[in-house]
Amino acid sequence: MNENYSDDQIGRARVHDSPELIAYYKELENLGAGALWKVANDIEPWEPKSNSVPMLWKYDDLRNLVLKSSELVTPEQAGRRVVYLVNEKRKDVAAAVGWLYSGIQVTRPGESTSAHKHKASALRFIMEGEGGYTVVDGNKITFEVNDFVITPGSTWHEHGVDDNGKTCIWQDGLDIPLINALEANDYAVYDGKQALDVPINYSPINYGTAGMIPADKSWNKPYSPLFKYAWKQVYPALVNALEINEINLFDAIFMHYANPLTGGHVMLTMGASMQLLPAGFSGKAHKHTGSFVYQCAKGKGFTIIDGKRFDWKERDIFCVPSWAWHEHHNLSQTEDACLFNFNDLPVIEKLGLYQEKEYLENGGHQNII
Ligand code: FE2
Ligand code: FE2
Repeated sequence: MNENYSDDQIGRARVHDSPELIAYYKELENLGAGALWKVANDIEPWEPKSNSVPMLWKYDDLRNLVLKSSELVTPEQAGRRVVYLVNEKRKDVAAAVGWLYSGIQVTRPGESTSAHKHKASALRFIMEGEGGYTVVDGNKITFEVNDFVITPGSTWHEHGVDDNGKTCIWQDGLDIPLINALEANDYAVYDGKQALDVPINYSPINYGTAGMIPADKSWNKPYSPLFKYAWKQVYPALVNALEINEINLFDAIFMHYANPLTGGHVMLTMGASMQLLPAGFSGKAHKHTGSFVYQCAKGKGFTIIDGKRFDWKERDIFCVPSWAWHEHHNLSQTEDACLFNFNDLPVIEKLGLYQEKEYLENGGHQNII
């Protein structure tokens, strides 16, 4: 073995260019072919490798610009009046991290968007405002701050805020980059407003109350029949769980939003969770596959991602790329903190790609670089 190569390169491509090889590569290229050993080390990493970088989007910095969009363009002009969050290294696919898109949408009282649908699935996490609603396949759902709402792929949807409401801002999460990568997206515009097929809040009343489901209704869609998960139910659930459970060393109290019929993720391609970090919580570091976009729903703290500290408070958004070391800390000694996240775990899990690793050095905490 050539002594210039370290042990960890055993079995890896290590061919040096020569005039003969360069000419050979050119011949292959002209025929629409190539030598695998030229790219093998890049396309087959030793461990999962993300093209994204960790990022933090401070709400204080973005909020005014988001609001300004509502002065500059109407929802009709823009189609979707959204400021999107783009990862430094994923501009080419408009992703916030991995194959996930995220944006911040503002809607003023009396405004409503036109209805449309697309193969990409969407979700919303409500950041501020009052009187907001969404209509998903003829089902009007009202929402409040910190509620989580889904708009599964190919459902007709439109949003708005009541005339007497307050300007609403919410975070959108979509799998657009993934569906585009699979070359399977589409988009259609509804002619007019959707007719309301069922009473307001039909879905959350039928499927989101008391852990019960209607005995006389069938549901055969591949996503949750529950379109809204209300903060006023979610937060007490987390607080109660903290009372009776040992906390997880990495994530404290961590709960998935679940399809009440299956217990599985809310949609085929994207999952979402809420976690509660008790006062003073100092989480240990781990890493796993799957891309995550977080939003702080309550409190303040920081997350160390691959050795870099990101301080967050309510409404700040940050991302953790796949296989990045991360640990969460609550900065308050008296108040809990809550982190919402959405992720691509349903895809990662279904394809058998989930793996995780615990950070064992330094008491389980990363050094800040
Ligand atoms: Fe949409
Ligand atoms: Fe994690």
